[in-house]
Amino acid sequence: MQPYLIAPSILSADFARLGDDVAAVLNAGADVVHFDVMDNHYVPNLTMGPMVCQALRNYGITAPIDVHLMVEPVDALVPQFASAGASIITFHPEASRHVDRTLQLIKQHGCQAGLVFNPATPLSYLDYVLDKVDVVLLMSVNPGFGGQKFIPATLDKLAAARRIIDQSSLPIRLEIDGGVNVDNIADIAAAGADMFVAGSAIFNAPDYAQVITQMRQRLAK
Ligand code: DX5
Ligand code: ZN
Repeated sequence: MQPYLIAPSILSADFARLGDDVAAVLNAGADVVHFDVMDNHYVPNLTMGPMVCQALRNYGITAPIDVHLMVEPVDALVPQFASAGASIITFHPEASRHVDRTLQLIKQHGCQAGLVFNPATPLSYLDYVLDKVDVVLLMSVNPGFGGQKFIPATLDKLAAARRIIDQSSLPIRLEIDGGVNVDNIADIAAAGADMFVAGSAIFNAPDYAQVITQMRQRLAK
């Protein structure tokens, strides 16, 4: 297992002062910036695009930016996010007509590539592309909104994904996204996740450092 990574979802940040809020959460001990891109087509919400990613880089954010594309189609946005400073680009396989091609496109543009699985999407999308995947991201809510409740069936799915990754011996990250908080993070880690997205649990708290520290304490036990 690789070291645990905490990735605050900036969907729940203060958009009016985004640079400061992202810097604050990183200073509070976060490892990665989780950047949710919603297009009002693949998911019923609309958020931010490559210009905002570039603005964070221009502001001085140097931490890895984990771009979670909830868009359809996918490919046109890959070069744009790569040149805007994305480190990881993940997408939902149902939203790409040529999953293998999209994975290759992401890597050709110098980013790590990942597939995202909705609660009802089977892991079999990994079958023939595992060697091209750096991150497997399991959604533990239906995508589109922050602040939803963790779907418990995701724990079994995490364990299944962990088995697939371990059998491959590839250094693939297993990321979880949706409803993660201090109370459930230990169970989520025990099921096999090593990268934890948390939006509302961190940004709705008065003290980001306190929540992140509590999460790390739960992970250490
Ligand atoms: C949902 C997004 C998540 C969301 C997580 O579609 O992909 O990243 O912001 O928010 P919380 O942690 O509040 O469930
Ligand atoms: Zn996300």
